[in-house]
Amino acid sequence: MVNGKFGGAVIGYGGMGSWHTRKMIQQMQDDIEFIGIYDINPERAKVAEENGIRAFSSREELLCDERIDFVVVATPNDVHREIAVDAMAHGKHVISEKPVTTSSEELEKMIAASNQYGKIFTTHQNRRWDPDYLVIKKLYDEGTLGRVFNIESKVHGSRGIPGDWRNQKAHGGGMLFDWGIHIIDQALMLLDGVEIESLYARLDNVTNEEVDDGFKLELRFKNGVDYHVEVGTSNFIELNRWYIQGENGTAIIRDWDLNGEIVMVTDWENKDAVPIQAGVGLTKTMAPRTDDTIDRYPLPFVENKGFDDRSEFYRNLVATMRGEETQTVTHDQQRRLIRLVEAIFESAKDNKVVYFE
Ligand SMILES: NC(=O)c1ccc[n+]([C@@H]2O[C@H](COP(=O)([O-])OP(=O)(O)OC[C@H]3O[C@@H](n4cnc5c(N)ncnc54)[C@H](O)[C@@H]3O)[C@@H](O)[C@H]2O)c1
Repeated sequence: MVNGKFGGAVIGYGGMGSWHTRKMIQQMQDDIEFIGIYDINPERAKVAEENGIRAFSSREELLCDERIDFVVVATPNDVHREIAVDAMAHGKHVISEKPVTTSSEELEKMIAASNQYGKIFTTHQNRRWDPDYLVIKKLYDEGTLGRVFNIESKVHGSRGIPGDWRNQKAHGGGMLFDWGIHIIDQALMLLDGVEIESLYARLDNVTNEEVDDGFKLELRFKNGVDYHVEVGTSNFIELNRWYIQGENGTAIIRDWDLNGEIVMVTDWENKDAVPIQAGVGLTKTMAPRTDDTIDRYPLPFVENKGFDDRSEFYRNLVATMRGEETQTVTHDQQRRLIRLVEAIFESAKDNKVVYFE
């Protein structure tokens, strides 16, 4: 502690490590005193010092600094476990970047260290506060669309997999561990408390052989919801971010700017339609509904705590360190997510349906 504030530090001062550093210095300064960083790459240490940030000369030196209460691990995925366990053994709370690690076996060692040393150990699943996700969660929780039976969540790029460690297996690369871990975590949170019956997954290797550069996943939840998750990096035409179907209505979120709408059926029984020409045939079944049997609504507004000055994740972290709350990303949630990722790899490898819970 420093003057009643929690001492914070970052290990791995790359893209995300810089983000955490800025967050702590610029937005969490009332509760957190930022102490410094360690990066294995001297070039990054130099960049930190140019930015006026203390760069420790070794991990050990940083971990032995008694002012530091917690450490954010923002290195490539393969070393999260080793660094997190070392940090907890030195008496530091740990926030691991996502994915928390790359296997259940590794995760259990991290959780064991958390229990052994009595330290907070959590994961930065920040996309639980994405505005698009919060809109879908509100629609689902409030039953706006009636009984929901299908949800589609898709994230797409068009530049292939990034050319850094993310395209290497040894570093825990691949899009499943990258974007997948965010939007699969969202699926588990959206249907919190509902078990997954089965899943089926295919991994893509369009631009890269070593790790997946995209994937498609079908989850069947035990309450009958089918949930499709898709990440791609070769999409030159964008797909919708979200599509959710209930018995009485459908909602769509097209993009990150939250363009989209809700369409509710107002007169289900009024099914009469004039046949339309579809391809070379006629159809009544697939003719769009006429305006007198549907209503259109804008998407609901959801207060977005995640992008406030004091993000919900960091607010909870501080409250947990004070002993006033419990961590919002729990060990059981970490476990379920990594077990699910393992089942996805198994399904894709053996081309089979996996019965999960
Ligand atoms: N939550 C999010 O929204 C989000 C976004 C991007 C990345 N991430 C995660 O953050 C982590 C870092 O990703 P990034 O994009 O910042 O990568 P990056 O390559 O930009 O940065 C990683 C840094 O870690 C350093 N490093 C590597 N091994 C180290 C070691 N043993 N000790 C100390 N430093 C070491 C590297 O030199 C580099 O500076 C990954 O786990 C990634 O999945 C999370």
